[in-house]
Amino acid sequence: MMTAAELRRMFIDFFKSHGHAEIKSAPLVPENDPTCLFTTAGMHPLVPFLLGEKHPAGKRLTDVQKCLRTGDIDEVGDPFHMTFFEMLGNWSLGDYFKKEAIGMSFEFLTKKLGFKPENIKVTCFAGDENAPRDTEAASIWMENGIPEKNIYYLGKEDNWWGPAGQTGPCGPDTEMFVPLDRPDCGPNCGPACGCGKWVEIWNDVFMQYNKTADGKFVPLEHPNVDTGMGVERVTAFMQGVRSAYETELFAGIFAKIKELSGNPEADFNNRSARIVAEHLRASTFIIGDGVTPSNVDQGYVLRRLIRRAIREARKLGITEAFVSKIAQVVIDEYSPFYPELKEKQEFIFAELNREEEQFGKTLENGIKEFNKLIEKFPPNIENKIISGRKAFNLYETYGFPLELTQEMAAEKGFKVDEQGFQEAYQKHQEQSRAGAEQKFKGGLADHSEATAQLHTATHMLHAALRRVLGNHVEQAGSNITAERLRFDFTHPDKVTPEQLAEVEKIVNEQIKRNMDVVCEEVPLEEAKKRGAIGLFESKYGDVVKLYTIGDFSMEICGGPHATNTSQLGTFKILKEESSSRGVRRIKAVLIH
Ligand code: ALA
Repeated sequence: MMTAAELRRMFIDFFKSHGHAEIKSAPLVPENDPTCLFTTAGMHPLVPFLLGEKHPAGKRLTDVQKCLRTGDIDEVGDPFHMTFFEMLGNWSLGDYFKKEAIGMSFEFLTKKLGFKPENIKVTCFAGDENAPRDTEAASIWMENGIPEKNIYYLGKEDNWWGPAGQTGPCGPDTEMFVPLDRPDCGPNCGPACGCGKWVEIWNDVFMQYNKTADGKFVPLEHPNVDTGMGVERVTAFMQGVRSAYETELFAGIFAKIKELSGNPEADFNNRSARIVAEHLRASTFIIGDGVTPSNVDQGYVLRRLIRRAIREARKLGITEAFVSKIAQVVIDEYSPFYPELKEKQEFIFAELNREEEQFGKTLENGIKEFNKLIEKFPPNIENKIISGRKAFNLYETYGFPLELTQEMAAEKGFKVDEQGFQEAYQKHQEQSRAGAEQKFKGGLADHSEATAQLHTATHMLHAALRRVLGNHVEQAGSNITAERLRFDFTHPDKVTPEQLAEVEKIVNEQIKRNMDVVCEEVPLEEAKKRGAIGLFESKYGDVVKLYTIGDFSMEICGGPHATNTSQLGTFKILKEESSSRGVRRIKAVLIH
């Protein structure tokens, strides 16, 4: 029986033996991508490199990436949907292309996972006005030994991947399917019939295009390969079970839930238990990457996951504090591969406990209030709608995320006036959750000159903050749009107006020195020795990119950057505020 740990190791070792460098999973919160709250695919942290930036680890990469997708959050509870998952991937950054990519996929599927060629079906892009039919991929599959009858051509909905947001690298793909042990649904049973017998386990994307904001597909100078294989799904398949919930990845968590419920007879792979397990696994990883529960952005998603898990746990009879006990099991299961979980263990427990305590204080009363609300409706009323104001009251007074109220309402056949809720919310809070949702709608971060300049300005701000406030200042987050930068950093107190003025002055003086921004690739140890700052060392393996701005700033970073500070214009700080405990946030712009 192949475990998830074995699968990860086997995949990484296989691609290493084919000349790929292993890189570490990037954090779940994207760096410098303001348009997405979470990392959604293995390629996501690699976007700059897919667009042509040089990656310090080389042109062939492989990793296991932590991913989070919130689109299917309401489906969590069925056997298949998850918010958090791990994605195995291999990348060619302008190196090999279809022939080698398909050849390696075929070799891994047949030699390592043991599938017979006749038990593999693949789909290829059928072609449209943007890109031709991918007969090339199909021929390569056949040369490798996949029978022609196992090859299907499908359209854009199925065989095109990306961009991850509105813009960015994308292209036709070829997907690989293997069969569950059950009869065909009919003569056309295959990847497209929808009966579920054929399970997609891998996707090779041929990233040849950059989709621009005006909807054009511009060929990339160097075509890339991006692949993705879901750890949970493949592990389940290899173990002959229906879903990841039946693998060792969840066994310990379910055992814990059972123990906590005090009901050893119950079936603890039911809907509620899956929600508890899945959401708390996701929450553990999210907090492990530095996010804390709040009412905005990532923190709001996290809060929603934790609170939903707590409510479901009550349905299983768990009423005492329990979330950090589940987190402990998650940490034990995953920290051999993700050591950051063990390192951040105390922080994870503290944040979970705090949130559980806060929610626990009002949950009981909130449920009572909700039930009262429902009871007030006449029994046979048709228009079963809870007003936005009432939903907002549940949010404000009892800490019920809108989605929780919606879910409780749906269980009783009610709907919530969402627009009314948003209106009430806007009135009460300047920082609206709608801001978070905007982020899902937007495209991937652009890599325009404006963002490159703001990126350089961010390094200069970082250096200036350390001069003015001290060397305890470290980057806690960075988010850049074409309009502004947003920099989170560790500092215990509010930054005074005088300190801010000083920081601004230093940055502008340094900009005026017209310094070149120099990029070098050096071993990590050397970068450290030379006194470089930057938190992202682990992401890039042994050789890192070091960006130096005169004698003022030296920081490890992926880029891209302006080439000279003279391009930056005038630096202006717009706002300084608290981001979370011990972390301050500065928003700033460049005026040209
Ligand atoms: N980026 C591709 C996916 O997510 C591999 O399926």
